[in-house]
Amino acid sequence: MADAAAVLNTSPVIPVVTIDDPQDAVPLARALADGGVGIIELTLRTESALTSLKLIANEVPEILVGAGTILTPGQADAAVAAGARFLVSPGVTPALLTSMLSLDVPVLPGVATVGEVMAVLEAGLDAMKFFPAGPAGGPSYLAAIGAPIPQVRFCPTGGISLATAPDYLALPNVACVGGSWLTPAAAVAAKDWDRITGLARGAAALSR
Ligand code: 3PG
Repeated sequence: MADAAAVLNTSPVIPVVTIDDPQDAVPLARALADGGVGIIELTLRTESALTSLKLIANEVPEILVGAGTILTPGQADAAVAAGARFLVSPGVTPALLTSMLSLDVPVLPGVATVGEVMAVLEAGLDAMKFFPAGPAGGPSYLAAIGAPIPQVRFCPTGGISLATAPDYLALPNVACVGGSWLTPAAAVAAKDWDRITGLARGAAALSR
């Protein structure tokens, strides 16, 4: 099993993917893998998300697929049962953190304040999602957190694009960034997998 550091090191960008139609799951995952991006955070924001998760986990082994938008302990359990190899939450509550930590997969809890970073660190984790990265303060905010708390590595997500990703990736406490820009809804609706492969290629080429 990969640990959280290995999850963060998989790719410069973790695509945050929302899939409505499970028939799109496998071709979309393959399109990302073809572009050199071997990881997906699949959000649990659609009714069929767990079906899509299962399909990717079973049919696209070259992709490390995790579940995002985990809000409750029940969702964490269901995601792992469906094949999620890591879990991502937009924020943390004590109950959610305890429940995610009881499961046998790496977790990236979402944090946006210094106190939240300290609480998650206290629970024994040093890898976190910084969300929503842009509105919460962007690269300068993360750089400031790195002064008193240099041991935490972040995956900032929320409001990041190919153009702004390098500002985050240049920071020593940023391992990778997350973003939905690799899988635009219009490209998925049009089944334009080549476009997604091209966007993945651009993301995979980012240096960190
Ligand atoms: C997330 O859940 O992490 C965000 O919705 C992704 O943010 P973005 O759409 O601004 O990339």
